[in-house]
Amino acid sequence: MERVNKILNHDLYKEYLERNEQAEAERRFCRHNVGHLLDVARIGMLFNLTEAYGLPEELVYAAALLHDIGRFRQYEDGTPHERASAQLAPQILRECGFDDNETDVITEAIGNHRNAAVLEERNLNGLLYRADKASRACYICAAAQECNWSGRKKNQDLIW
Ligand SMILES: [Fe+2]
Ligand SMILES: [Fe+2]
Repeated sequence: MERVNKILNHDLYKEYLERNEQAEAERRFCRHNVGHLLDVARIGMLFNLTEAYGLPEELVYAAALLHDIGRFRQYEDGTPHERASAQLAPQILRECGFDDNETDVITEAIGNHRNAAVLEERNLNGLLYRADKASRACYICAAAQECNWSGRKKNQDLIW
């Protein structure tokens, strides 16, 4: 997990997390903070292990920790945050020791984390999409009525 810990300590990573934090200070709906990113990483690992995706854990963690890193840009200029995050992630990945192929695989998954078409894919794309959605505690959320997630997408029960 050496390279994953490098991500957590990377100056740009910390800066983007801080920008997300500031942009969401008053947000009533789900936030995109480090707690969410770690939830997605760990739920992703549960899917990875219990459903035999066979993905290296550093890929799962790196994709999860970076998948919402550009959320602040969506607030600033409307850029869809999966695209903003996919633009910001490669520099951090390379500087933390991920090679070009790993960087491409992780970036593709980040760019597809709101694309329901990848849901069934038995790869990092499908795993990240599922872990991200499963992480949200809709079943206990006070803002669930006003949330723009469709009823089908909302988690009615705790799975993990
Ligand atoms: Fe997201
Ligand atoms: Fe997310």
